[in-house]
Amino acid sequence: MNEPTSPTTHFGFKSVPAEQKVAMVADVFHSVAAKYDIMNDVMSMGIHRLWKRFTIDCSGVRPGQQVLDLAGGTGDIAALFSKRVGPSGKVVLADINESMLNVGRDKLRDLGIINNIEFVQANAEALPFTDNSFDIISIGFGLRNVTDKDAALRSMFRVLKPGGRLLVLEFSKPTHDWLSKAYDVYSFRLLPFMGQLIANDKESYQYLAESIRMHPDQETLKQMMVEAGFAEVTYHNLTGGIVALHRGYKF
Ligand SMILES: C[S@@+](CC[C@H](N)C(=O)[O-])C[C@H]1O[C@@H](n2cnc3c(N)ncnc32)[C@H](O)[C@@H]1O
Repeated sequence: MNEPTSPTTHFGFKSVPAEQKVAMVADVFHSVAAKYDIMNDVMSMGIHRLWKRFTIDCSGVRPGQQVLDLAGGTGDIAALFSKRVGPSGKVVLADINESMLNVGRDKLRDLGIINNIEFVQANAEALPFTDNSFDIISIGFGLRNVTDKDAALRSMFRVLKPGGRLLVLEFSKPTHDWLSKAYDVYSFRLLPFMGQLIANDKESYQYLAESIRMHPDQETLKQMMVEAGFAEVTYHNLTGGIVALHRGYKF
């Protein structure tokens, strides 16, 4: 008789038992946390700041609203939301990784913008919030790392208020062949090299490049959001589709 096999998933290009992925992703972010911000600026030549600002602009956020920045890491997106919701609103920065949360908390405290931000350690697949809690949910460069993305999208749908919107900012599929080829060279040759040079960590940046390739493309992610219950799902390609911003509503 054959032994039952446990389900597998991908960790970059590797196939791993699904229950191991969360620990492997945790290792990556524990390892990169201290150098995460500087690596982001170097790798994207600062362009990640524009992608994040565009996300806020598309969120329709207003003073007094409740925002969840999921997989919020070192807090760039939460900081932008914090200014927009003001003292009468609240931003919950949730992330599974304690090291990333610690770096984020210290950074936002130094910037003096911590008053309306709450930090919560949580897995996107099983959010510890009551139904219909948030006006807006954002997840920036986080969904790619989640083992069960469908469960995470359903969890986000549950905690979003009716009328609320979800914004998924994530690496995606370049829209032109030439860009795709250039981006491949950049991702697989330069990224791990820069990871080694700046963060002394080649493997984590090799994982980053591989995880980007394994992430669902624009249309697939759109369909996943529809299946999780989101309505009027649209996406906007940024920097030639290297990144896409998906937006969907809960009605
Ligand atoms: C690439 S960082 C993005 C951080 C931040 N949103 C930004 O755009 O700079 C990905 C984050 O996702 C978090 N993450 C990975 N898996 C997660 C999960 N299952 N639930 C919540 N957060 C998760 C990681 O800990 C990490 O902080």
